[in-house]
Amino acid sequence: MTSITLRAAIAALALASLSAQAAEPKPGAADKLYQANCTACHGVKMEGGVGPTLGNHAWLHGAPTKANLIKVISKGVPEKGMPAWSPALSASQIALLADLIAANASKSVAAPSPAATAAAKAQQNVPDLGGFKLPRGFHISVYANDVSTARSMVVSDSGIVYVGSRKAGKVYALVPRADKQTAEVVTVAEGLENPIGVTLLNGALYVGEISRVIRFDKIDQRYAQKPSYDVVKVSLPNDKWHGEKVMKAGPDGKLYIPVGAPCNVCDVEDTRSAKIYRMNADGSQLEEYARGVRNTVGFAFHPTTKVLWFTDNGRDEMGDNTPSCELNVAPKAGMHFGFPYCHGGVVPDPDFAKGRTCEEFEAPVAKLGPHVAPLGLAFYTGKQFPEAYRNSVYIAEHGSWNRSTKSGYSVRLITLYNSKVVTDTAFIDGFLRGEEVVGRPVDVATLPDGSMIVSDDYGGRVYRVTYDGK
Ligand code: HEC
Repeated sequence: MTSITLRAAIAALALASLSAQAAEPKPGAADKLYQANCTACHGVKMEGGVGPTLGNHAWLHGAPTKANLIKVISKGVPEKGMPAWSPALSASQIALLADLIAANASKSVAAPSPAATAAAKAQQNVPDLGGFKLPRGFHISVYANDVSTARSMVVSDSGIVYVGSRKAGKVYALVPRADKQTAEVVTVAEGLENPIGVTLLNGALYVGEISRVIRFDKIDQRYAQKPSYDVVKVSLPNDKWHGEKVMKAGPDGKLYIPVGAPCNVCDVEDTRSAKIYRMNADGSQLEEYARGVRNTVGFAFHPTTKVLWFTDNGRDEMGDNTPSCELNVAPKAGMHFGFPYCHGGVVPDPDFAKGRTCEEFEAPVAKLGPHVAPLGLAFYTGKQFPEAYRNSVYIAEHGSWNRSTKSGYSVRLITLYNSKVVTDTAFIDGFLRGEEVVGRPVDVATLPDGSMIVSDDYGGRVYRVTYDGK
């Protein structure tokens, strides 16, 4: 090649990249559409999550050309958990998204996102415990490290804590060491599909995955032997969006299991989503218990009234400051908690309310604030904490993922008098330090010695809170 043709080639290349830039869609609109509809499964930076990365990878549905992308986005792959976006999005919106993804298709975003890298770092480094704020006389320590993506917890009579997980796909047993100050982490099972939900009934550990419920019999005797499990015969929706399943054994000996709405907001009144179910331990007599519940990821039964209390996560895309996430009470079957018509007890949905009023539905007993992401809750039933802290509700607030100023990231304490909310204050703060996240609380439980444990899926650990009055 002569130097002249070389120069011409370089000039042509430069031109080509210029025109490629000019042809790129305005990032604003496409990006907003992506952030509003796709991040839940494909990640904020297209790094993947429930769905594949939308950066460089072996594309499942043909080369990532605009035409192919429009096809897969419009029709979805419903049987694989990718929703069809036509007609929810218009043809021009889908075309914008296709352009955005095509432009991104060869970038390597599958590498851990900055958030994932930060999380990996957090798993190694225990945050400075002095940075946590608790009421006077309470102390926090690490009960167990290496509990990757720790989610719901349940404590057996012998003091073993079973912990579900999310991406790690594992169920753990935290076995107290002799001094009871810390625990050994034993992996009970692995390779499961987001097994976030765990509960104990008749000596068996029940685990909720996205598409099934499994049971490990006599778990306290078998946790260390990679125990076998049985699949409980029950058919529930297994959408990936809000499809992870927490579970809890009720005082009636039934298993309670919610199914979230497969969307940010959509009318699923006549489907099996956005409801709480209960069933016998063997999966028989599955029945609806409560409806209009967008996505509860934590619930508990009041220690004396035995009534069901649950958190519910408010919808997104109505701005930073509305609607509020909810704490609800369902003393009997058949109650409706408003979704998708009314949010936070007072905010009619701009698209779905259509002539329905908030008065028709059960209002929350406490409004927890917008985007705080309340997950697990527990009543403190121990004797170690002072009287004023007993039989109160403790709520793990995972924290906002899409609010301009982060909110949540704490364990809240809600005190009750005759089941009426009296105060709502922070019990543990300091999971968020400035804008730096050091942990995201998921669930709360009481240990037999009256100390409290809190799971953190971001740091991959479980904290322990004790009281000595000093
Ligand atoms: C509820 C989860 C979920 C949401 C929300 C979602 N997707 Fe997907 N998506 C998936 C899954 C799961 C797959 C993989 C399907 C398969 O295995 O064939 C997928 C596949 C895709 C593919 C094909 C990838 C490939 O490798 O060929 C594209 C493109 C895509 N999604 C775009 C989008 C866009 C754009 C949005 C938002 C408008 C979106 N998705 C929202 C779950 C989701």
